[in-house]
Amino acid sequence: MGIKQDWDRDFDAARAALDWQVELGATEAICDAPVNCYDLPDRLPKAAPPAKPASAPPPPAAPPVADTADAVAQARALAEAAPDLDALRAAIAGFDGCELKLGARNLVFADGQREARVMIVGEAPGREEDRQGKPFVGEAGQLLDRMLDAIGMGREHPDPARAVYITNILPWRPPQNRDPSAQERAMFRPFVLRHIELVNPDLLVLMGRVSATTMLETAQGITSLRGNWCRFMDRPCLPMLHPAYLLRTPSAKREAWADLLSLQAKLRTLT
Ligand code: URA
Repeated sequence: MGIKQDWDRDFDAARAALDWQVELGATEAICDAPVNCYDLPDRLPKAAPPAKPASAPPPPAAPPVADTADAVAQARALAEAAPDLDALRAAIAGFDGCELKLGARNLVFADGQREARVMIVGEAPGREEDRQGKPFVGEAGQLLDRMLDAIGMGREHPDPARAVYITNILPWRPPQNRDPSAQERAMFRPFVLRHIELVNPDLLVLMGRVSATTMLETAQGITSLRGNWCRFMDRPCLPMLHPAYLLRTPSAKREAWADLLSLQAKLRTLT
């Protein structure tokens, strides 16, 4: 009995320690066996003698981005120079103005059909999106898929008239899923603008407060923006409640359903 209790306690402690590491983002083992750090110096190869100065200077590193305004200007130049979606993805991957890139596992660029009539812009990747490199694949994403399915649409739909294309304001996961900062949003906005230009959807859906306020450059709250069609980049645009909010506030699903029906009706008027 005593042994069993000890075992239970050890298990609980180990489990709590593991949960804590997962919470910090250490979600993958990288070696099969544990490594004793104290053994390492002896095992490491001897340091190589200093290299002789090379005759040709090394290629210049990318210029450091002095501040947000520089980073935004750099992002704008990179985005505008991207002739297609693959080039835009590469430009975002190469953009070093934002430190989120250093802590993320994968670039989350987009999912769905490039020919879709509807483009959805969300906020930022969470843990599951960061792991898979795809937007909206966690719990909120699964709800989004069910919402779209309810009006006969989906990211996998083979018919472009019923397909959606999904991206986010931020391509990198913010630590602990914190809100993207104003600087981070400003840096990635030019990439999203170019993304919309290149996909050229008939309709745009801004999913949640961060997406709507960043793209529309407004301080208005999402509860007053949602459900109200506006024009953005010369096409109808609908701000909606974020599915993560709907998971926390199931009573708001009624408004979300009204917005989905409004989206469906708008698509019909445009055909
Ligand atoms: N929430 C978002 O806004 N985007 C994602 O990709 C996942 C969750």
